[in-house]
Amino acid sequence: QPAEAYSTFRLHNTLSEVILIDELSDLAAVNTEHPPVIIGEGSNTVFLASQDRPLLRFLAKFRTITAENRQHVELHVEAGHNWHELVTWAVAQQLWGLENLALIPGSVGAAPVQNIGAYGVEFSDVCSYVDFYDWTERKIRRLDNKACQFAYRDSIFKQQLQGKGIIVAVGLVLNRDPKPVVSYPGLDTLPVPASLQQIYQQVIAIRQAKLPDYKVIANCGSFFKNPVISKAQYQLLQSSFAKIPGFIVEGGIKVPAAWLIDQAGFKGYKQDNVGCYEHQPLVLVNYGGADGPALLALVHLIRQQVQALFQIMLDPEVRLLDSNGQHYVES
Ligand code: EPU
Repeated sequence: QPAEAYSTFRLHNTLSEVILIDELSDLAAVNTEHPPVIIGEGSNTVFLASQDRPLLRFLAKFRTITAENRQHVELHVEAGHNWHELVTWAVAQQLWGLENLALIPGSVGAAPVQNIGAYGVEFSDVCSYVDFYDWTERKIRRLDNKACQFAYRDSIFKQQLQGKGIIVAVGLVLNRDPKPVVSYPGLDTLPVPASLQQIYQQVIAIRQAKLPDYKVIANCGSFFKNPVISKAQYQLLQSSFAKIPGFIVEGGIKVPAAWLIDQAGFKGYKQDNVGCYEHQPLVLVNYGGADGPALLALVHLIRQQVQALFQIMLDPEVRLLDSNGQHYVES
């Protein structure tokens, strides 16, 4: 069947088989000798070629409050629940914690994998546990926040547990008391103190202004991660590029990949039906009809130009899959 419905980048390819599972108990029957490729709503996955391996989508989406007191509400949410619907529900319940993560496409089960983040908040800030069904043990293992090894767009699910099972649910802790996070540019203009609804609405407005709607122009959001470089390299770059932005993080200075790509002249650039979005060049877009080789050619060009200008190699943020469901690595 066509792969377009399973990746919001919509490259023209086919899928050999898609297994849809509604209930936990049905996971026991999955043939894991050749583990299937797990897919959520496809908003961070690009099929570079037609897929030989089966894909598996877990659809269960039950949501329940497991504990609450005056300060906190604990939730258990199954992986198939849509992320933005969860955020919208929490905001309507006057629960703090998810509002900065409004309008991120995709499923709840995908959120821990790359530790989704936006506007100063990451999934790891609200996560108490992740339930992982292990293909070998054939049972659910509960990983607490620390065991998930969350980092910037990273977790144990992208590392040691990659291909070893499937996330079936997450546990979250939300707050009844206001906890506004409004330091990110665009939120710092809100009245003080900002309400939950104001933050939620503002995040939605910023995203709608900067990011293309994948239903209109196919894309997977940020295509590359923001690179972290050493302080020494940053200072050296400052001597040639006085305006280079940088944010101090653990391990060095994080530089916006959007700025590097913009400086390299790619904003609004287009070739063979793929390009860099005009309002946010970190978002690569498919204008329709593009295929894997066309995308890879653009990825290669951007990486080479940024490397030549700044001596920084950009790494993909999206999951790029080859025909065998393996993560594509550019040589
Ligand atoms: N910039 C430019 N030119 C542009 C746009 C941006 O130079 O045309 C520079 C500016 O210096 C700007 C900086 O890039 O200050 C940062 O831009 P922005 O606030 O849009 O954020 P980002 O670093 O590009 C990250 C996440 C987004 C997330 C936003 C908001 C990554 C890879 N991306 O983008 O996440 O929504 O911050 O928090 O970390 C995603 O992961 O798919 C995603 C959209």
